[in-house]
Amino acid sequence: MNFRYRLHGLVAIAGLLVLATGAPAHAQTGPVKVGLVLSLTGPFAATGKQIEAGARLYLTRHGDTMAGRKIEFVVKDDGGLPDQAKRIAQEMVVNDKVDVLGGFVLTPLALAVAPVASQSKTPAIVMSAGTSSVIDASPFFVRVSFTLPQNSVGVAEWAPRNGIKSVVTLVSDYGPGIDAELSFKKRFEASGGAVKEAIRVPVRNPDFSPFLQKVRDEKPDAVFVFLPAGVGTQFMKQFASRGLDKAGIRLIGTGDVTEDDILNDMGDVALGVVTSHHYSAAHPSPENQAFVEAFKKANGGKRPNYMAVAGYDGMRVLSHALKATGGKGGEPLLNAMKGQSFDSPRGPVQIDPQTRDIVQNVYIRRVERKEGELYNVEFDVMKAVRDPGRGN
Ligand code: PHB
Repeated sequence: MNFRYRLHGLVAIAGLLVLATGAPAHAQTGPVKVGLVLSLTGPFAATGKQIEAGARLYLTRHGDTMAGRKIEFVVKDDGGLPDQAKRIAQEMVVNDKVDVLGGFVLTPLALAVAPVASQSKTPAIVMSAGTSSVIDASPFFVRVSFTLPQNSVGVAEWAPRNGIKSVVTLVSDYGPGIDAELSFKKRFEASGGAVKEAIRVPVRNPDFSPFLQKVRDEKPDAVFVFLPAGVGTQFMKQFASRGLDKAGIRLIGTGDVTEDDILNDMGDVALGVVTSHHYSAAHPSPENQAFVEAFKKANGGKRPNYMAVAGYDGMRVLSHALKATGGKGGEPLLNAMKGQSFDSPRGPVQIDPQTRDIVQNVYIRRVERKEGELYNVEFDVMKAVRDPGRGN
């Protein structure tokens, strides 16, 4: 065998070893590349943009160098499509050689990326996808967003204490919606309420009218709603035009339905809506006030929602993990993300070192007008809530 063939053989063996062990060729010097897989077109584009703006804001406020390494974003649009999300993540790992993945607006997108993170041993920061089971899809996932069971149980406990004894649930028919429906029902019924009917609506382009008619016919005290960020305005308009508010049916839900990006455009129909959620732009801490102000300044006056906070906190977790590893990536970086506790704009949070999931306060809020604008005003809190969807 001449030298050239031997060299080819060695390269081929090295390639096979990389595939077999899954060990990536992450550089430990030079920039830290962060691959954000985001929906930037299609119905969930607003969410992708909030996450990206939040992540960029962290660098604006805290500098773009972490542990001596400059942070470089590689941002790609998955169009809300799981196949595309997976392809993009593969491209980022193989061609762009990213050190970290992040983003994942919808649960199916996070699930599509999970095997890529696992096989390449790339830490991946989940900044949206809120189905409980997402965290189990890869041991390289760390979640800085929320889970739907976490955000459903607050209002499930509040409602029966406040005259709401019968409810119809109405949720988007996929992972987070089903998590919201089941966890709400369990906690609401354990607290003395009864769910009369459980309605699931299509995720894409839902026409709520026939479902709202069904709610009206059931005459519950309230309808409990989960819809992913960005869909709430259309729902609210149809809720009012079908006369449910006039019929005395109250609206409760997770805070996704009254999220800050769109709340102010909803009009008076949103006034009085009670939701439970981990973040409100009106959260009265100094950390949040500074965050909201800086976000608005950097984004033409736009208000941050909970997706922006997750993008921001995701970069915080990365930054402190890089400091702890002295700039090293891979498994040491993942391990340094676990167990972090800090004051987020949303309040105190922790990344549970065992589950890799976020532990956080869940606030009960009511939509009110404050200085001419609609806000989710927090009036009660459940402290340090772990994801109830995983048997905690
Ligand atoms: C999800 O797909 O997991 C998801 C997306 C947006 C939300 C909540 C959950 O607001």
